[in-house]
Amino acid sequence: MSRLLEVKGIRVGYGTVPVLHGIDIHLDEGEAIGLFGPNGHGKTTLLRALSGLLRPEEGSITFDGKDITGAKPATIVAAGLVQAQQGNTMFGDMGVEETLELSAFTPRARKDRKGRLAEVHALFPRLAERRHQRARTLSGGERQMLSIGCAMMCAPRLLILDEPTLGLSPRLKGELREAISVIAEKGVPLIVVEQDVEFLLALTNRLYLIEQGEVASEIDRDNAPDHQEIMDMYFGEQAH
Ligand SMILES: Nc1ncnc2c1ncn2[C@@H]1O[C@H](COP(=O)(O)OP(=O)(O)OP(=O)(O)O)[C@@H](O)[C@H]1O
Ligand SMILES: [Mg+2]
Repeated sequence: MSRLLEVKGIRVGYGTVPVLHGIDIHLDEGEAIGLFGPNGHGKTTLLRALSGLLRPEEGSITFDGKDITGAKPATIVAAGLVQAQQGNTMFGDMGVEETLELSAFTPRARKDRKGRLAEVHALFPRLAERRHQRARTLSGGERQMLSIGCAMMCAPRLLILDEPTLGLSPRLKGELREAISVIAEKGVPLIVVEQDVEFLLALTNRLYLIEQGEVASEIDRDNAPDHQEIMDMYFGEQAH
């Protein structure tokens, strides 16, 4: 299987404050991987570096055989590495459908805009029902769906989701997880950050535990310790 993403020894920080101290991760074509770990240990920072929002001071990021270290976010999205926006204060007065259509702005994505819209509507029937509603009037959970929908409109070759179900009611969380599982089953490569290790083990084939800006361990689903052992490893280390 060919390597889609290779991250080697990246060091990333904010100003003079270092956060990632040399991270190595990789993902093959057709794979889904999960990232988990304590709060504030660098998961989101790693994703920002992948999306081109932060430039690594050292190390390299290779996507689909091309060095994208330090590339602009728009170049990275055009190459197919797409992160769904989190939280979503970005939606405005445009309608839901219009927002989705405008998201397919890259040359690759523009090709089959209608087909992709139908795919997003099938994933999130609520977005189809609310197609003419102004995006900013959607509920938090629906905005999260729109955010993932917009990312899907970009024809992702690798989709990145940072805690997509954070703060949602159990019902909406369930709906969203179901849709994310369908995306994974379609074979879209995924990087998902979640605190729920059980969900990650069901969704992905490998997990990375990110602690103190480093990869503390890599867990393969096929020979993973059971869920309790992972939680002991995680919370056990946190307790010290
Ligand atoms: N814009 C910023 N400026 C300065 N420091 C930041 C900024 N964003 C994050 N940090 C710091 O970088 C460190 C890593 O934060 P990051 O958001 O990557 O963690 P995380 O693992 O995603 O946490 P969480 O699980 O809470 O989302 C933290 O110490 C945080 O305070
Ligand atoms: Mg985070």
